[in-house]
Amino acid sequence: MRWKTLDDMDLAGKRVLVRVDINVPVENGRVSDTTRIERIVPTVRDILAAGAQPILCAHFDRPKGRVVDAMSLRVVVPALEQALGTKVVLIATLDAAETRPDEAREAGVVLLENIRFHPGEEANDDGLARRLAGLADIYCNDAFSAAHRAHASTEGVAHHLPSCAGRLMEAELRALEAALGNPQRPVAAVVGGAKVSTKLDLLGNLVGRVDHLIIGGGMANTFLAAQGIDVGKSLCEHDMTETARSIMAKAQGAGCEIILPVDVVIAREFAAGAPHEVVPATECPEDAMILDAGPQSVARVNTALDGARTLIWNGPLGAFEIAPFDTATNAAAAHAADLSRAGTLVSVAGGGDTVAALNKAGAAEAFTYISTAGGAFLEWMEGKTLPGVAALEG
Ligand code: 3PG
Repeated sequence: MRWKTLDDMDLAGKRVLVRVDINVPVENGRVSDTTRIERIVPTVRDILAAGAQPILCAHFDRPKGRVVDAMSLRVVVPALEQALGTKVVLIATLDAAETRPDEAREAGVVLLENIRFHPGEEANDDGLARRLAGLADIYCNDAFSAAHRAHASTEGVAHHLPSCAGRLMEAELRALEAALGNPQRPVAAVVGGAKVSTKLDLLGNLVGRVDHLIIGGGMANTFLAAQGIDVGKSLCEHDMTETARSIMAKAQGAGCEIILPVDVVIAREFAAGAPHEVVPATECPEDAMILDAGPQSVARVNTALDGARTLIWNGPLGAFEIAPFDTATNAAAAHAADLSRAGTLVSVAGGGDTVAALNKAGAAEAFTYISTAGGAFLEWMEGKTLPGVAALEG
């Protein structure tokens, strides 16, 4: 690896500023999904075990440089304490962290208040980066899911302290390297979701790197329309059909097979349990909308997965939020899970709705690796350099 890890650092007796991503969902004042919190535990434990003092730094939501009480990290402290099995002290201001270092020394684990309360964070202000660096001897970035942001705590501070990747960052980078950097071939990618326009760079990058590109969700309709197929009232970006055609041409040139639905599930309203039927993808009635891929399409996807050695999954194949239009997503995810369990497929998933869809399908646990990242996962798949990772390499 081109970056240092905790194993390369002399930690004993040091203060370690650990950038974590605990931007977690909260419902009724409680953390409703603790995944991101649990995934930083190995880093914090290893730092404590080495006799060092972790000072956690994180953002929460988007307060845009102002102190917004509703976006205080206070709400995550109980979940963090439970996951770590130790007391966590929230330090409300950087002034307090700077002027009362004893509080930090005695606390065990310190958590700095939402770093996005500072306007300098998103501006990657060097003054703020230096203040953060002044709190510690070592910087450890464990926030892969925020590494696409060039902010003071994700990028700037790395230039002022000896820096390394945390355990979660290491795991994310290793998994993504195995999926897209140096994968076992053939590689299949599932890309779903509503719009081609939001995943343009991603599709453009993938066609040059994978053997099968399985396109699902609303964006498949745009590709069908690009082939002159009438998609009725389906979600479709008609102004993107030319772009879809150029992606198909690029795929052909690169030897990448694009797999689109051959049959589809249509309905006349977007509602759970709406009356629906399966028709060939070429025969969507003009008053109907496509809400899922049909059984023949799923069989086609599963055949591609059978032949693949590596799978990258981002986005659902249909309107997975409402049954029965989650059927194709569930079936293909279950098949990928079976192949992963059998050891024939390395499966990596991440980004936005994807993890929710795979959890709903009961498939997530069997996947080889589930990324904690949303936007950062997409940018990595687009082939972009993530500033937070690049700063660790520098
Ligand atoms: C995320 O939730 O994907 C990360 O925490 C980044 O959050 P952001 O999109 O507000 O920068």
